[in-house]
Amino acid sequence: MEPDPGQLPLRVGMVGYAFMGAAHSQGWRTAGRVFDLPRQPVLAVLCGRNATAVRAAADRHGWADVETDWRALVARDDIDLVDICTPGDSHAEIALAALAAGKHVLCEKPLANSVEEAEAMARAAETARARGRTAMVGFNYRRVPATALARRMVAAGRLGTLRHVRVSYLQDWLGDPEFPLTWRLRREAAGSGSLGDLGAHIVDLAQHLAGERLAGVSALTETFVRERPLPAAEGPGTGPVTVDDAALFTGRFTSGALATFEATRYATGRKNALRIELNGERGSLAFDLERLNELWFHDATGPGTEAGFRRILVTEPDHPYLDAWWPPGHGLGYEHTFVHQARDLVHTIAEGRRPDPSFADGLQVQRVLAAVEESAAKNSVYTPVPD
Ligand SMILES: NC(=O)c1ccc[n+]([C@@H]2O[C@H](COP(=O)([O-])OP(=O)(O)OC[C@H]3O[C@@H](n4cnc5c(N)ncnc54)[C@H](O)[C@@H]3O)[C@@H](O)[C@H]2O)c1
Repeated sequence: MEPDPGQLPLRVGMVGYAFMGAAHSQGWRTAGRVFDLPRQPVLAVLCGRNATAVRAAADRHGWADVETDWRALVARDDIDLVDICTPGDSHAEIALAALAAGKHVLCEKPLANSVEEAEAMARAAETARARGRTAMVGFNYRRVPATALARRMVAAGRLGTLRHVRVSYLQDWLGDPEFPLTWRLRREAAGSGSLGDLGAHIVDLAQHLAGERLAGVSALTETFVRERPLPAAEGPGTGPVTVDDAALFTGRFTSGALATFEATRYATGRKNALRIELNGERGSLAFDLERLNELWFHDATGPGTEAGFRRILVTEPDHPYLDAWWPPGHGLGYEHTFVHQARDLVHTIAEGRRPDPSFADGLQVQRVLAAVEESAAKNSVYTPVPD
């Protein structure tokens, strides 16, 4: 690998400035002010399609310059990294062009809208890596201190042989049948529905925490509301929902451990409830994103009379990421995962390490999603996930 120009600023160009654009802006703005970083992120250029709107967004979020075409952004020689915060239908095109232009890349999840696109992206990332360029996927839930601690505890053997991973990601914003037909409900833009949006997160998190991969899956998917009003900008009338509303599946890990997954936007009352529980022969861990400063641990090796889940308040300086934040008990939130993501990516680039998660990891998640769709289309038949 070529040496990285250490100490230089890391000039970021970001495409998309709505939900994830705001979250990533927060991450890039804050990481170098909280953590000691080998390179200082600079919010250099924000890219959108509407000149007035992108300028307003740049001013709000702290970006110096703007572009209205991502091709112009990628062609600039004053940008080191392209951060992709657009819907899935543009991930592959932008990432491939950015890597070819010698940029580092951060791409939101799911990596792509199809396995074929993800394969091309993973190949390009591997080629770029030989030239010292890094490509990472934005699976930010790995970077909640409590999930990072869970990973550390599993890796240290605190759960022993793993038997079960039980994970669900529940939201309810589609419960209203009048909710409009936005890009997330169109296959050509989003690739899939709850599966790619929420399911991608829990597949990645489950595999990351377990430290192993899914060998195969058996799935059910459903689209409950098949026709929805068009967004106001597209006029009156309705259009077809072309993605799944919910995806439920079971999975077998390569070790033989079993997993259950549920991803839905119809869990009335559940707003952003990502819950994961791991059971091993020596103990169990449980986490709920709606209480993200807490990790629950049952140690099955202690006396039975004292057994039970106990709450670890993950705010101690020795916990992951916490040495740079507030005194114990003062708590972090959702936005901090993006600060941690920016921090980890800067270190990965400066130290020439393999990104975690890499585009190859994003491709493997895409293969799980494809196996889920294949299984669901065949009456839940068990479907292997290709290596
Ligand atoms: N990591 C997470 O927790 C998380 C959460 C939400 C979304 N996401 C992912 O982030 C991505 C974006 O989702 P979002 O919620 O921010 O969507 P959004 O609709 O809020 O924002 C999308 C942005 O992309 C812009 N855009 C679309 N096509 C463009 C193009 N060709 N050129 C320039 N700009 C373009 C839109 O104008 C908008 O600013 C998706 O891949 C989504 O799956 C990740």
